[in-house]
Amino acid sequence: MKILITGGAGFIGSNLAKYFMDKHEVLVVDKFRSNETFSNGNLKSFGHYKNLIGFKGQIHCGDICDRDTIKKMREFKPDVIYHEAAISDTTVAEQDEIMRVNLNSFKDIIDIAYENGSKLIYASSGATYGDAPSPQSVGKGENPGNVYGFSKLMMDEMGREFNAKTGLHIVGLRYFNVYGDGEFYKNKTASMVLQFGLQILSGKAPRLFEGSDKIKRDFIYIQDIILANELAINGDSGVYNVGTGNARSFQDIADILQREIGVNLGNEYIANPFASQYQFFTQADIEPTRTGLKYEPRWSLEDAIKDYLPAIKRIYNSEFK
Ligand SMILES: NC(=O)c1ccc[n+]([C@@H]2O[C@H](COP(=O)([O-])OP(=O)(O)OC[C@H]3O[C@@H](n4cnc5c(N)ncnc54)[C@H](O)[C@@H]3O)[C@@H](O)[C@H]2O)c1
Repeated sequence: MKILITGGAGFIGSNLAKYFMDKHEVLVVDKFRSNETFSNGNLKSFGHYKNLIGFKGQIHCGDICDRDTIKKMREFKPDVIYHEAAISDTTVAEQDEIMRVNLNSFKDIIDIAYENGSKLIYASSGATYGDAPSPQSVGKGENPGNVYGFSKLMMDEMGREFNAKTGLHIVGLRYFNVYGDGEFYKNKTASMVLQFGLQILSGKAPRLFEGSDKIKRDFIYIQDIILANELAINGDSGVYNVGTGNARSFQDIADILQREIGVNLGNEYIANPFASQYQFFTQADIEPTRTGLKYEPRWSLEDAIKDYLPAIKRIYNSEFK
């Protein structure tokens, strides 16, 4: 098959690219990074060439909002499109740029899929729910707390509408909090698994928000994200949660890491500057994902952190020290 992966130099996209490259013809499209930043000080895009070292396939550097890039993607005639490119930073305030990059470009991607009869599988987000009660279920009380979550919710609406009108295979995957190898280049927006891991390896106590034993999220390992994406090729069209179905605390992460690394550095607690738009408890309802995609998560937080730790140590030694 010919597989197009937008955002393929990012965390999740590069994992998909490397997973599929041996069996399929893969085209990665990504704008990579420049030194441009948003008003929150974070980079405008997090794509990094190092995520693609060892990748075998085509790479096109370009912005998914540009005509030339759209032409390139169309001419590739993909059988499957994994659309991961987005402004992925939930703390970006520029509503215009988020809506343009995340939502407008989605219509162009849908058009490319329609013209080629491609199966379209795209990244939505648990951020669509905002403070909706747990467990979060698709179609129940979505109330995004930031424009990023809103843009993903509107992508879900657009995808559903287009699928209903045309029957095109469109699967939206609402990833919850993803962690795993390849996320280092997301800088400050990388998961707390990596950030606590690097703090602990530096000999520092992990820095947690106050009350972190009660702040719980559905943390999901990259291997389960790859699994859901692969299953989505032959699953039913629709919007699905991709989590574990379990909520675990940030304190759990810090404790597991200290145990696995074999240290006890205590904890440092700091005030939460994002409290007004923060998700304090997320837990994905994955029953419809089990039915529609035959998805069953394989990784517990304990097993996944153990699996991820050699990569965290590698990053610490090669990039962080
Ligand atoms: N990581 C998570 O926990 C998580 C959770 C929910 C949803 N998601 C979604 O999953 C997808 C992948 O996320 P990620 O964690 O790999 O983030 P990421 O930032 O590492 O990947 C996104 C990639 O898109 C690229 N990109 C951004 N704007 C672009 C543009 N205009 N043109 C071309 N490329 C562009 C970036 O360079 C980057 O490589 C995103 O859509 C994100 O919103 C991620």
